[in-house]
Amino acid sequence: MSLVNVKKSDGVGLLTIDNPPVNALSPDVQYAVAQGIKSLVGDEGVSAIVVHGTGRNFVAGADIKKFVEISMGEAPFSEEGLQPLLRLIEDCPKPVVMAIHGFALGGGLELAMAGHYRVAVPDASLGQAEVKLGLMPGGGGTQRLPRLVGLKKGVEMCYTGDPISAREATDLGLVDKLIDGDLVEESIAFARQISSKKPLKTRERVEKLGTPAINADLFDAARQAARIKYRNLEAPLVAIDAVEAGLQLAFEEACRLERQKFKSCLFSSQSKALIHVFFAERDVVKIPDVPKDTPTFSVKSAAVLGAGTMGAGIAMVLANAGIAVLLKETDQTALDRGRASIQKNYANAIKRGRMTQALADGRMKLITPALSWDGFEKTDLVIEAAFENMALKKKLFQHLDNICKPTAILASNTSTLSIDEIASATTRPEFVIGTHFFSPANVMKLLEIVRGKATQKEVIASCMQLAKKIGKIGVLVGNGKGFVGNRMFHAYRREAQFLVEEGATPDQVDTALYDFGMAMGPLAAADLAGIDVGWRIRQEHRHLLEPGVRQPFIENKLCEIGRYGQKTGAGWYKYDEDRTRTSDPETGALVRRWRSEAGIQQREISTQEILDRCLLALVNEGARILDERLALRAGDIDVIFVNGYGFPAYRGGPMWYADSLGLDSVYRRVCKLQQDLGSFWEPARLLKKLADAGQTFSSHSTAA
Ligand code: NAI
Repeated sequence: MSLVNVKKSDGVGLLTIDNPPVNALSPDVQYAVAQGIKSLVGDEGVSAIVVHGTGRNFVAGADIKKFVEISMGEAPFSEEGLQPLLRLIEDCPKPVVMAIHGFALGGGLELAMAGHYRVAVPDASLGQAEVKLGLMPGGGGTQRLPRLVGLKKGVEMCYTGDPISAREATDLGLVDKLIDGDLVEESIAFARQISSKKPLKTRERVEKLGTPAINADLFDAARQAARIKYRNLEAPLVAIDAVEAGLQLAFEEACRLERQKFKSCLFSSQSKALIHVFFAERDVVKIPDVPKDTPTFSVKSAAVLGAGTMGAGIAMVLANAGIAVLLKETDQTALDRGRASIQKNYANAIKRGRMTQALADGRMKLITPALSWDGFEKTDLVIEAAFENMALKKKLFQHLDNICKPTAILASNTSTLSIDEIASATTRPEFVIGTHFFSPANVMKLLEIVRGKATQKEVIASCMQLAKKIGKIGVLVGNGKGFVGNRMFHAYRREAQFLVEEGATPDQVDTALYDFGMAMGPLAAADLAGIDVGWRIRQEHRHLLEPGVRQPFIENKLCEIGRYGQKTGAGWYKYDEDRTRTSDPETGALVRRWRSEAGIQQREISTQEILDRCLLALVNEGARILDERLALRAGDIDVIFVNGYGFPAYRGGPMWYADSLGLDSVYRRVCKLQQDLGSFWEPARLLKKLADAGQTFSSHSTAA
């Protein structure tokens, strides 16, 4: 199969890139395009050239696997990259028309910009998406894009990585013509029309580059915005630097500089981590004993039990994917409250311009409020999101077993309870599964899919497929207490609280982790969720506490005096009516008193200790989880933390982060913590094993 096909149509040469699935610009494709262009240039019967891609895209970008090989030192870095090919196209004496559909991203857009004209179908997307992988344009994108869309928009597109639609691209001048009909036919007709015009080289166009006076503030403003929007990320700032530097340099020199900057991004730890997350998010669907061709049950209708915080959000998520939902409650007041919260959510989306009234109305219509069980006999899926109480859940599942059709999937959104025990209340445990959404369910991307010991493969495959349909990243986990995410998060939060007991301030703990890159510090996050939730659960399960094992106590004490967090205006911090957080001297005084009552000596705590204790607690627990085979791969755990717990993607997730520190060093630090702090810190068996063998979590797979 050839990567590029060349044809002629009535005086126009048609070059088709054919590198499934996304027409990635591998070195072989670049070579084949160059050969194709050369042959058409040499063909006297050709007066203009059209370049397009087969399948769903023009060219979606570079081959990301190749980037990994290069950054691992397994393949050489090309100092010139796309430049020779782009120069060949731009210098082509015959006009080259780039015909775009689907995605023209990264190298794909760079290729398109080297052409003399661009035409596109209206729903095509064009962008320099490299920063999403910690990279930046490396094939002239920082230089050609501002020449076509103007400096301000060009800088913005390079540092945000956000693509624009073909319509917007047409308004900006990046696309010369929108094509509503057949792309290839109309592109050829367009090429014929312009075939006698002298090709205009993008690199020679300077009319949109402004003047130093006009541009003076533009770069600082872009840097400021990038620092806020992409906190701690290096690539967006490097991309801005490259555009700015280009204004002072000859085009070729600017491209050389851009390539050097691209190289430094490619070898950076941030890019390696982001690329790891990119592939890990794609690997979660690979479940060794549930192959791709496992039959699935189609989910066209669903029911949700409970219209509280989670149930209402889950109903929205299902309706957003076109699934009809019965939303059941026990009384009218709770039902009205749930419906009102959904309505408010849609109203906000409309207000922000994210949705039209008609679309919101259509989705509301898909959600049928219910107080009875009518209609449950027909639904394909039930998701239970009632109170976190085993007796209640068992009663509900027993009833569902009686009334639902035999192939209905019975799912629970429980965050802590055993799926096996819930399933034991039914006569069909093979159809029972956990679908653990994260709050707010309509926003958070993560869905932990909890496999019970009897859960049937078809049910697992159906839920993985459903996750995709509703726009979530479904990660299969085992049925251990707290599953994967919450179990690890529990260890992390435990250390955060111990650190305050021992002498750190809440601010110190939160700032250390926020600066590390977490979306929020653990104590501020607890205030947001409400620290009373855990307190109530702990009171209920007090009898299960192991005697003599140290337990954090400050949150209990805060709750005893009514400080539940944001909802009561105070918790670890103080909040005003807008819920703006300030540190609270009263918390400081209370903590000092409780600390001394507990006989704990206050000591200085360093940022490094905060990071070690909180993050290595995650890592050690993650290693246990892998050892217990509750997660299939370290990458799955990373996906869970990046998408469900605000772990910075540019650090790759907790397990990748540990790998990057070196497991030998992590193991030694955990041993030291065990010496200083006791049994919580017993190193996980797998951590020791991998450290001894000089291996990494990423190389270890329980999937095999
Ligand atoms: P919630 O208290 O906001 O809502 C529970 C709702 O269930 C209430 O509206 C209640 O009236 C209703 N309900 C109770 N018994 C019912 C029954 N027999 N039939 C129908 N509805 C009934 O609780 P939330 O936070 O929505 O939690 C629901 C479930 O989701 C729990 O199992 C919880 O552990 C889990 N979960 C909660 C998360 C959170 O952040 N709130 C995150 C992930 C899971």
